[in-house]
Amino acid sequence: MTKNIDAGKEASALFPTYARYPIALVKGQGSRVWDNEGKCYLDFMSGIAVTNLGHVPERVKARVQEQLNTLWHASNLFHIPQQEQAAELLTANTCADAVFFCNSGAEANEAAIKLARRYHTAVAKTGRSEIITFHQSFHGRTLATLTATGQDKVKDGFAPLPAGFRYVPFNDSEALKAAITDNTAAIMLEIVQAEGGVFPIKASFAQEVAALCKEHGLLLIVDEVQTGMGRTGALFAHEHYGLQPDVFTVAKGLGSGFPVGAMLAQEYLRAAFSPGTHGSTFGGNPLAMSAVVGTLETMLEEKAAQRAAEKGTTLLNALRVKLSDVPLVKDIRGLGLLVGIECAEPVADVIKEAQQAGLLFISAGPNVIRLLPNLFVTDEEIEEAVAIIHDVLVKRSEVVATA
Ligand SMILES: Cc1ncc(COP(=O)(O)O)c(C=O)c1O
Repeated sequence: MTKNIDAGKEASALFPTYARYPIALVKGQGSRVWDNEGKCYLDFMSGIAVTNLGHVPERVKARVQEQLNTLWHASNLFHIPQQEQAAELLTANTCADAVFFCNSGAEANEAAIKLARRYHTAVAKTGRSEIITFHQSFHGRTLATLTATGQDKVKDGFAPLPAGFRYVPFNDSEALKAAITDNTAAIMLEIVQAEGGVFPIKASFAQEVAALCKEHGLLLIVDEVQTGMGRTGALFAHEHYGLQPDVFTVAKGLGSGFPVGAMLAQEYLRAAFSPGTHGSTFGGNPLAMSAVVGTLETMLEEKAAQRAAEKGTTLLNALRVKLSDVPLVKDIRGLGLLVGIECAEPVADVIKEAQQAGLLFISAGPNVIRLLPNLFVTDEEIEEAVAIIHDVLVKRSEVVATA
């Protein structure tokens, strides 16, 4: 493999679904990753909010290695003890009572959409089916979840799309009230719209959504695929607002890099997924569950969410001080260690400049830098990252000023 790999070149046997950077990462440890030429990077993207415990966390590695030696796969036609253990850990530490394991965030959201509809059809017998979601939201790339997503760009060319979704502006309670009908089954939202530009929910709106769900008998579905697993300074972001969602979904950080997702729901919804109504061959497989158990044990014992809250404050403060005189910067916002720096210009070149300087981060929409360090990031690493971000943004401001 050479350094100048260009995604999309004829040489690749892959579909060109990703505009890849010309970097091949081959090793990771804690907050650092190395490419195939030995260059070291400080990782402030964590594989897009996946490696929340840092790269190759010891306890997760030990659990997966132990499982590799015993049993890789068992069908869900049998009891899988590791699945029970992972579900117990999740339900003991959240408002949920029942868990369905799958393999990704999109699948977890599919399960949530199916559960909401089936509950209204088979249990409550209201027959309601419509799900309200929000402009700029992101819920995945399967047909139902891209339809749920409130961004046209992910839908382009995929019609006909499934029916039964309605979209309203985020943080707008009047628009939400107006959109609720006799056919509304659920409201689905992110606590911080991450892909959509790092926009946290307003506290008052969170309360209004919960109240409207109660008043109209709607399920509150919270998509915690990106905000979950300690990322925002609580194990799940809805905890910040005292919400008790009927359903919430998780993936990304759940397996520390092992592909896994989960849909969690309150007790009264258990009956909606009776045997044969939903399933997944790999969902809750012993290997994935060993990664989940190792991740949750580490996260809970080492108070990872609390660390994310503290380090998130350190990062936001450092950015606000250091970037205060950078003309390109319009806003700095976030929750815990999910932080956005909104710029007046597209940030694609800034990302590449930072990579050359040894720092990895991503964007959220064209103009927003998105920072997602691991939850055990140190003050020194924050200082190092903020200095590089400052330098690349100053350089970019000068380029823009002379253009
Ligand atoms: C909030 C949210 N929901 C769903 C997804 C889809 O997850 P996956 O890519 O694992 O299907 C993502 C991925 O970025 C996400 O951020």
